[in-house]
Amino acid sequence: MANDVHESPSAVPAESPSSNDVREDRPHDPRHHVTLENLHTERRSFAPLASFAAHSNATLFEYKKAEADSLEYWKEAARRLVWKEEFSEILDWSDAPVARWFHDGVLNACDNAVDRHVREGRGDRIAFHFVGEPGDTQTITYSDMHERVQKAANGLLSLGVGKGDRVAIYLPQIPEAVVAMLACARIGAIHSVVFGGFSAASLRQRIDDAEAKLVITADGGNRRGSHLPLKPLVDEALAPSIAHPGFAASVEHVLVVKRTGQPTEWTDERDVWWHDVVDPQPAEHEPEWVDAEHPLFILYTSGTTGAPKGLWHSTGGYLTGAAHTHRIVFDLKPETDVYWCSADVGWITGHTYIVYGPMINGATQVLYEGTPDTPHQGRWWEIIQEYGVTIFYTAPTAIRTFMKWGESIPDGFDLSSLRLLGSVGEPINPEAWMWYRRVIGGERCPIVDTWWQTETGSIMISPLPGVTATKPGSAMTAMPGIAADVVDDEGRPVRGGEGGYLVIKEPWPSMLRGIWGDRARFARTYWNRFDGMYFAGDGAKKDIDGDLWLLGRVDDVMNVSGHRLTTTEIEHVLVAHPWVAEAAVVGATDAITGQAVVAFVIVRGDAEGVPDDGAAIADALRTHVRKEIGPLAKPRDILVVSEVPKTRSGKIMRRLLRDVAENRPVGDVTTLADSSVMDAIKDGLASGK
Ligand code: WT7
Repeated sequence: MANDVHESPSAVPAESPSSNDVREDRPHDPRHHVTLENLHTERRSFAPLASFAAHSNATLFEYKKAEADSLEYWKEAARRLVWKEEFSEILDWSDAPVARWFHDGVLNACDNAVDRHVREGRGDRIAFHFVGEPGDTQTITYSDMHERVQKAANGLLSLGVGKGDRVAIYLPQIPEAVVAMLACARIGAIHSVVFGGFSAASLRQRIDDAEAKLVITADGGNRRGSHLPLKPLVDEALAPSIAHPGFAASVEHVLVVKRTGQPTEWTDERDVWWHDVVDPQPAEHEPEWVDAEHPLFILYTSGTTGAPKGLWHSTGGYLTGAAHTHRIVFDLKPETDVYWCSADVGWITGHTYIVYGPMINGATQVLYEGTPDTPHQGRWWEIIQEYGVTIFYTAPTAIRTFMKWGESIPDGFDLSSLRLLGSVGEPINPEAWMWYRRVIGGERCPIVDTWWQTETGSIMISPLPGVTATKPGSAMTAMPGIAADVVDDEGRPVRGGEGGYLVIKEPWPSMLRGIWGDRARFARTYWNRFDGMYFAGDGAKKDIDGDLWLLGRVDDVMNVSGHRLTTTEIEHVLVAHPWVAEAAVVGATDAITGQAVVAFVIVRGDAEGVPDDGAAIADALRTHVRKEIGPLAKPRDILVVSEVPKTRSGKIMRRLLRDVAENRPVGDVTTLADSSVMDAIKDGLASGK
């Protein structure tokens, strides 16, 4: 991602850059990353439990096999999928960095996730215990899923959607979201799920970029006891706006699930109800058999610059990674486990560890629509108690929120069914890890801290339960078959005890295949910083035992509650507001969300109607960001300033603004074009301007 940094245009004509300026263009040195100070001194370690090891899906032998021959290892993993036609070649890397895995094999993702279980006599197994926020529930077996995906597949075909077409899915966390994704896969269409927390403008951007033919949405979703509108946002997204003159040209239909029953505007011809289109369809549909490299989905994620990137994943390689990692990291015993991943299907975690991985492995899962505090702060623990959840996968930001609410809340529920806990999304601080282990896991459950990315498709670094020791705050070791390493500026592996940049040195089956419509950006973004290596954008430390500690992003990507956001994207939105002359955004450490968005704005001298009061300006701009990107991007703080610090080449020095946002003494200012700027900012803030 370092290379995206070089793309950012300089606002100010550059003087000849000094060597210090050049340094500012580089990723932040992870050794100086201050947010996770406590990781450096953490010494606790927990040995794998013998009781767990006796039955674990993973074994030490796993690492040995992969080391001896990683291609054979992946071949074996791929063979666990059901193939219509077997592959003969494992990896074709001749067109690097675009890999082809198992490319002459033929299969279907939905057949693997659903049909095979019915065919092999597991149709009566429960696939989902669905829990709606208002308390409605559904018990859905694999046979029920089979019926629902076939009807939905026929419904999509009846709307003229076919193999290779793109379908945008903008749904709440309800069974239809899973059905819609699998129905797309079933007919060979490519789904692009857009998280329900994104705005109409963000949805439109994604629809246009992928040229989606169909949008699947709902009237609304349930959120904290009220009805969150979705269909109105789709209507707004498809209509002309300042950013997008003209209607979304690619969209032929909007397929609407009735979830809340709230009144909904209707555009005849374009809008159709799910119950009218899907329900009457025959529950028979032969899957569309596709090549292993056929695109399964596109998922948009923030890069370091510009518009979000549409990352796309293959079918055979992606599913291999999803199913295999799910089996060994979560130790799933499909006959007895009840698995719950609390992520939303709108993120990669939901794609890989709700829809594809667990379903291919025949898991019984919990799917919950709502928030953890509706109607009370023990809702999640109540669900674990009620369904006897055994494996639970969530994010550090959620754990820290529960810590804040107090342990008496989970203590009020019987969590003794749990046997394994997982964490994902951001580095987990040792305190949160220890709390999770003690309060939720009753000191008996191994914790798997899983590092991966939308790009990697599946887990890359994680302990294996029963096999690997765990340390609070460390993701421990690369998965078998994954060549992860920490390197210095020159790409040389660091020694134990040192920090550097996380890289992956060999291709892996579930790696992204590219950025939708932009092959050059793919190579440039991930493969240019270090020759022939995938650069993840994260800083990491190798400890003296060789175990890995992830230290957060080293680029301009922020991680807010495990959601990826880009500083420049929010800056662009702020600057588009008529009051704003300039904006600088940083991710500041936050006790609950990991990082929080903090914006510094300079108000235009000539703007009309600007309130005198900084708080009123901040409120209006926060609403503006919410509307343009979505609630998840709303800045925690917006500070009105007279200047932002820049290098002589015109690049914003976010490091210094982070110091201000985190109330730290401001660091080295020698590369500033104007060294008085920081004093002006601090004085302004102190005087409450
Ligand atoms: C970024 C990827 C992959 C699922 C969710 C996020 C950070 C993710 C961990 C972890 C430390 C982590 C990294 C990564 N991250 N998991 N266990 N420890 N950091 O996916 O939105 O693609 O974000 O999340 O910084 O680069 P994503």
